[in-house]
Amino acid sequence: MKRAKTEKSTKNSKTKQPGVVRETSSTLTLFPEAEIAKLPVVEKKKEEDEKPSLETTTLWDFPTQSYGKTPKGNNKFQGVTPAFLIWNLIQRYTQPGDLVVDPLSGSGTTIDVCKEEGREVIGYDLTPMRPDVIQNDARKIPLADNSVDMVFIDSPYGDNVDYSDHPDDIGKISCEDERFYHELEKVTLEIYRILKPGKVMGWLIGDQWVKKTFTPVGFRLYDRISRYFETVELICVARRGQSSNTGVWHYRAKKFNFYLRGFKYLLIMRKPEATVTKVKWAKYK
Ligand SMILES: C[S@@+](CC[C@H](N)C(=O)[O-])C[C@H]1O[C@@H](n2cnc3c(N)ncnc32)[C@H](O)[C@@H]1O
Repeated sequence: MKRAKTEKSTKNSKTKQPGVVRETSSTLTLFPEAEIAKLPVVEKKKEEDEKPSLETTTLWDFPTQSYGKTPKGNNKFQGVTPAFLIWNLIQRYTQPGDLVVDPLSGSGTTIDVCKEEGREVIGYDLTPMRPDVIQNDARKIPLADNSVDMVFIDSPYGDNVDYSDHPDDIGKISCEDERFYHELEKVTLEIYRILKPGKVMGWLIGDQWVKKTFTPVGFRLYDRISRYFETVELICVARRGQSSNTGVWHYRAKKFNFYLRGFKYLLIMRKPEATVTKVKWAKYK
């Protein structure tokens, strides 16, 4: 009875005075436009302004390369790393003020994410693209032993991307060639040397399928790295925005019965607390 009366009075007043109808759980209420104009304007946050969320499973996915108001790395750079991935790693494995190193910085995604999150960061690359990246070959990193809190690395996955003409570019070696893993093992040993015991590195790597030949780059690299590091987790990162994500490639994949690469591996590895692993340093002298 009471409810019917409320609805009736609402209906009547709607015809008499202009206003905006706002629905509540039990009744319809009218607000004059003048009152609404006084209310604070709450702007809806755009998706790209949000921080990524902390991933809780071993399947990581994020719709865009970057997030937030300022770009992280350069999304036009072929081989740029998804920024949410580095954000997730530093949230879990570092504290503000910790030192993070990226030995293959490319367009600098690690630098941008770390600076915004209050981490110290050093970025190297064989062919620096920006002034805050230091020119260096990842097989010899100019840092002291046991001095770094986290390393992130997104290495070449083989010779599929033309990063530079530099003769020492690891991306000049095919992932079908054993030498590729041998050179990446040298990088692994440098990362091992500079990391503090118990600290973590994240290594992003993808497999290859070229000319009807599949190469399990992730497994072959993992075989090398796990000789020195303990495994924390192996993550699948959904691949978005790669050049083969087009109608014609999906058509070819069905017609000629092959698969497009849908994910990359993120190998999360920890340097053991106690040095129990026998590292054959002499091999690389
Ligand atoms: C996949 S990209 C890195 C992408 C980067 N994380 C980003 O977000 O832009 C790989 C990088 O490895 C670098 N690189 C190749 N060989 C190297 C070496 N021997 N030492 C250091 N950097 C090297 C290339 O120049 C390239 O920038």
